[in-house]
Amino acid sequence: MEKKLRVGILGATGMVGQRFISLLENHPWFEVVTVAASPRSAGKTYEEAVGGRWKMQTPMPEGVKNLVVANVNEIEKVASGVDFVFSAVDMTKEEIRAIEDAYAKTETPVVSNNSAHRWTPDVPMVIPEINPEHFEVIEAQKKRLGTNRGFVAVKPNCSIQSYAPVLTAWKEFEPVEVVATTYQAISGAGKTFQDWPEMVENIIPFIGGEEEKSEQEPLRIWGKVVDGKIEKAEGPVITTQCIRVPVLNGHTAAVFVKFAKKPSKEQLIEKLVNFKGLPQELELPSAPKQFIQYMEEDNRPQVKLDVDFENGMGISVGRLREDTVYDYKFVGLSHNTVRGAAGGAVLCAETLVAKGYIKEK
Ligand SMILES: NC(=O)c1ccc[n+]([C@@H]2O[C@H](COP(=O)([O-])OP(=O)(O)OC[C@H]3O[C@@H](n4cnc5c(N)ncnc54)[C@H](OP(=O)(O)O)[C@@H]3O)[C@@H](O)[C@H]2O)c1
Repeated sequence: MEKKLRVGILGATGMVGQRFISLLENHPWFEVVTVAASPRSAGKTYEEAVGGRWKMQTPMPEGVKNLVVANVNEIEKVASGVDFVFSAVDMTKEEIRAIEDAYAKTETPVVSNNSAHRWTPDVPMVIPEINPEHFEVIEAQKKRLGTNRGFVAVKPNCSIQSYAPVLTAWKEFEPVEVVATTYQAISGAGKTFQDWPEMVENIIPFIGGEEEKSEQEPLRIWGKVVDGKIEKAEGPVITTQCIRVPVLNGHTAAVFVKFAKKPSKEQLIEKLVNFKGLPQELELPSAPKQFIQYMEEDNRPQVKLDVDFENGMGISVGRLREDTVYDYKFVGLSHNTVRGAAGGAVLCAETLVAKGYIKEK
């Protein structure tokens, strides 16, 4: 790319916003030129606004420290200086839908990490390795919004990334029933152990809204485009329990699967390790070379050892074995704030650039 696209980050001071800032440091296609947050942060430099809240393990990139934080609500002002925005603001769903639509209507594409638009029929919700063809509904959405280049695209919830790609790799064996328990990191709630000390040596068996997302969102990912809208798939039926565990980064899932056409273990592993999608074909900058790795050791994948596989963009799977009630069971692991949040959104944006939906303004 000759000239980098100018990027704004809405919610730049938050946990996901900081992850965007870190991932986009030295990005070959994108340059962060605008950081926006609540009126509380507006007018301060990014460094001042974040203050002691920097939650990344790597230092704050020099290039953003002195950017003056804009107010997310000053839409025209923010939109005028950027080619597209990433959205990671924490507001009510109604407010998020309204603000993301308003940015789209300024002809600024919005790639969102938020859940507000995940079920809007003409908003694509995409894992680029699985359903990049869903971006087609952008044309219908632009008609609805009355825009030429402005639209909203979203990525799905962090919890599904440890098993939805795996089940996709096994599609030809027709999974019919899935039982998943997720063990979710505290960064998924925007927290560290410093600001959530109750989580040290603790487990909380409830994450608001998470089970419904974990059961329903994969069906939308496997859905098809009909008349400019996404129609969700009928199956497999998925039931989940989502548990918060004392882990900083990394969502683990323990999963049982029943198939219509039961394969051998060797066939399942072969499908996993050879599973590729459009990002690998196009060699997009953030695409993992190996999307899913299979680990033979009985004690893998482990959060501490494996969460950063492929810079946090790959999925690690292990403990695949036959089950006495279901056909097979396995354990999956993915990085919730990289593949599950900001990294997944960056890969969506790269795919949108490659497909010609995001261009220089
Ligand atoms: N953490 C994850 O792994 C994860 C994964 C998937 C999805 N999400 C979703 O991503 C969004 C951000 O999550 P997070 O964990 O990064 O939250 P967070 O750390 O609380 O950050 C929230 C961001 O939104 C801004 N904000 C808050 N209230 C606002 C308002 N009234 N007007 C404008 N801006 C406002 C904050 O600005 P100030 O600093 O100025 O307050 C901050 O930049 C949420 O919708 C969350 O559900 C998070």
